[in-house]
Amino acid sequence: MSRGSRVAIIGAGSVGASIAFALLLQKISSEILLVDIVPEAIEGQVLDLSDANFISSTRVRGGTFQEAGQCDIVVITAGAKQKSGETRVELIERNYKILDNVIRSMKPFNPNIILLLVANPVDVLTRIAQKLSGLPEKQVFGSGTFLDSARLRLKLSSELGISENAVHGYVLGEHGDSQIIAWSSAHVGGKPLLDFPEIQKLDKEAVAKEIANKAYKIIELKGATYFGIAGCVSMLVQCIVLNQRHIRPLSVYIKEYNCVFSMPVVLGSNGVERVVDVSLSEEEKNNLKRSASALKSICAKYL
Ligand SMILES: NC(=O)c1ccc[n+]([C@@H]2O[C@H](COP(=O)([O-])OP(=O)(O)OC[C@H]3O[C@@H](n4cnc5c(N)ncnc54)[C@H](O)[C@@H]3O)[C@@H](O)[C@H]2O)c1
Repeated sequence: MSRGSRVAIIGAGSVGASIAFALLLQKISSEILLVDIVPEAIEGQVLDLSDANFISSTRVRGGTFQEAGQCDIVVITAGAKQKSGETRVELIERNYKILDNVIRSMKPFNPNIILLLVANPVDVLTRIAQKLSGLPEKQVFGSGTFLDSARLRLKLSSELGISENAVHGYVLGEHGDSQIIAWSSAHVGGKPLLDFPEIQKLDKEAVAKEIANKAYKIIELKGATYFGIAGCVSMLVQCIVLNQRHIRPLSVYIKEYNCVFSMPVVLGSNGVERVVDVSLSEEEKNNLKRSASALKSICAKYL
């Protein structure tokens, strides 16, 4: 089964425009709508993207919140971005109000719509969007640690001298400071990652810090991050539109931890088909519990 491919992007800033460009290159969406509260932001991005329109038959135009609510997929990037030195969680006060407005303005929703949260803090905002939208949880999820996992795979692939696609390993939990690397379940070519001598000699804590701090480093150097997340979102949209059922670490509600954070899930045209119960060491489980309780206490203030 496949679904329609009209995609709305809420928030026509750096992340929204980069996602639109990545989707344009991918040539699988029939139409992309950019929605923002600043009309000049929409007009500027639509005009700029129209210069690249010869690459693809995807139509890119400005749209309203009401039109977005009738699309097949809505990607929510609207929100303030992290300032240098600011954590993702500190963004919540500013971005909660924006999300509330965005969801109210899009209602009533196409009942089959998929809401893909990207704005930060993505785990908390995903939980809030699940509650405010009233849509089934499988249709409302966040990009989570898909980007962090891509960063990890890049790092490990360069250590091992192999393709990133051959590294099966995930960053799980919060898309933020308390995220964990699931070292114990990672593998390459069916061999546990931890059995490779190149990985045994790695300083695992240093790698975890490097992955978790990469966004801060990019923000310090150029003010914002957008290409990586655009690549991730375009892959997720493709997975949904073509019902590819890839396994991706995404922000979803996890019953065992009673919170929204990232675990590997099967993604298809109906949204999240199921959560994969990845085996973790006791230490990894304990760290995830800590991540969950921090997120739960933040969510409790808003729900
Ligand atoms: N999940 C991830 O991995 C990831 C990666 C990078 C950035 N982000 C997040 O994406 C968000 C956007 O970042 P950015 O660099 O594009 O910021 P930006 O400031 O460039 O763009 C934000 C846009 O949102 C718009 N906006 C504000 N309120 C709105 C509303 N109520 N309705 C519609 N549009 C509204 C603004 O006008 C602006 O154009 C931030 O929260 C950032 O932290 C997430």
